[in-house]
Amino acid sequence: MVATTSGSREGWSSRTAFILAAVGSAVGLGNMWRFPAEAGENGGGAFVLFYIFCVLLIGLPVLLSEVLVGRHGQASAPESVRRVAADSGASKGWGIIGSMGVFAAFLILSFYCVVGGWVLYYIGVFAGDLFQTGLTGGAFEGRAASDIEGLLPGLFGNGGLMVGLNLGFLALTFFFVARGISSGIEWVAVYLMPLFFVLFLAITIYGAFTGNFGEAVSYLFTFDFSKLTGEVMLAAVGQAFFSLSLGVAGMMTYGAYASRETNLGKTSGIIASADTGVALLAGLAIFPIVFAAGLSASAGPGLMFASLPVAFQQMPFGSLIGLLFFIMIFFAALTSSVSLMEAPTAYTLEKFKLPRPVATAIVGVGAAVLGVLSALSFNEMADFRPLAFIPIFAEANFFDALDGVTAKLFMPIGAILTCIFVGWIADARLIDDENGLDGALHQIWRALVRFVCPIVLAVILAFGLFG
Ligand code: TRP
Repeated sequence: MVATTSGSREGWSSRTAFILAAVGSAVGLGNMWRFPAEAGENGGGAFVLFYIFCVLLIGLPVLLSEVLVGRHGQASAPESVRRVAADSGASKGWGIIGSMGVFAAFLILSFYCVVGGWVLYYIGVFAGDLFQTGLTGGAFEGRAASDIEGLLPGLFGNGGLMVGLNLGFLALTFFFVARGISSGIEWVAVYLMPLFFVLFLAITIYGAFTGNFGEAVSYLFTFDFSKLTGEVMLAAVGQAFFSLSLGVAGMMTYGAYASRETNLGKTSGIIASADTGVALLAGLAIFPIVFAAGLSASAGPGLMFASLPVAFQQMPFGSLIGLLFFIMIFFAALTSSVSLMEAPTAYTLEKFKLPRPVATAIVGVGAAVLGVLSALSFNEMADFRPLAFIPIFAEANFFDALDGVTAKLFMPIGAILTCIFVGWIADARLIDDENGLDGALHQIWRALVRFVCPIVLAVILAFGLFG
């Protein structure tokens, strides 16, 4: 099958491969680790419902806008935007949307691999436990719950191990990105995403029978209007973008490898549904455990890692289930980190005309340097607060600062500019031709991109930062 219009350029080998890669990019640590942590820190129900609202009204239209620009441009994100601008008789200066995005994706990659390292650590812990105690019984037999909750703080205290695991995860990501689109990135998605879904469904069903959903459901879906502050709204938009890989060139980059035959409207719908479904199910799996174990919902980044091992202790076949669970998260994380790495890599190799492995290595070395700073910010560099001058980031260490700046500034700003560009600047005929929507859906999407998204985003951004 012909995958690209340019012939010489690499592309997905089929529409299914594109969908799996894009779903693989979207579904990741953002769903299983970041979503519960953000929901917990932002008061639960109000955050969750506003997050769903953001996915439907803002995320989905922006997602379609991004893949559309990418597919028309058939290049790295900055160059794709420039090509759409040129074909519309507009200034190539709009390419800045792509450049900002590529830079932000690079920043995200650097701390994403730190969390990927924690996943590797827990795989090791559960594998070791399974090996020691055998299949039957719960995990960590005979050990106190406090001991198990202490695993993550213990890891945080070990700077050498944190850095080692971070670099290990980054190296795995490098390996697949350096191999290219069809034999690297696509391979990961086509083999690991189906495995992920099988494991995810099995573990969720298992959890539904052994856990108690009641409290989690009311925590996640009880809407308390008084809790919906500007800061919570900004956090929810940021989470929607992070989870859908939006606002920072990720989906533009993947769209560029899609063939002309792919219906982008339909595909965007599939990606957004899969991503949101996984996030909500992950919340329903994690919060019952958090409450049952008496842990605080607002524990932040450590939430998933601290709560789940406690639950696996009491479950029959706990070590095995725990091991499978973290392997599943590892698959999801890897299919996302490759997309974060691909955005800056595609740009570097195109701009400097480098062979792919060299471009990937350059991005990797940069991400390694920043990653070390993030990895050490949980202990050795805990007092380093690089953005203390911005009130909402006053408490943020290096890791939190990168996470906060990318999700709360780069993503919303990138999305606002994308909407203005696609809705107002780009030639309407070109857009109509690419979007795969017709009739009412097309009209709704246009109205969302032109009016609703940029205005709502600008208001939320202003309230979140200054309100
Ligand atoms: N969406 C991924 C997750 O939920 C993270 C991610 C992958 C991402 N690629 C991205 C976020 C590009 C922003 C931009 O884990």
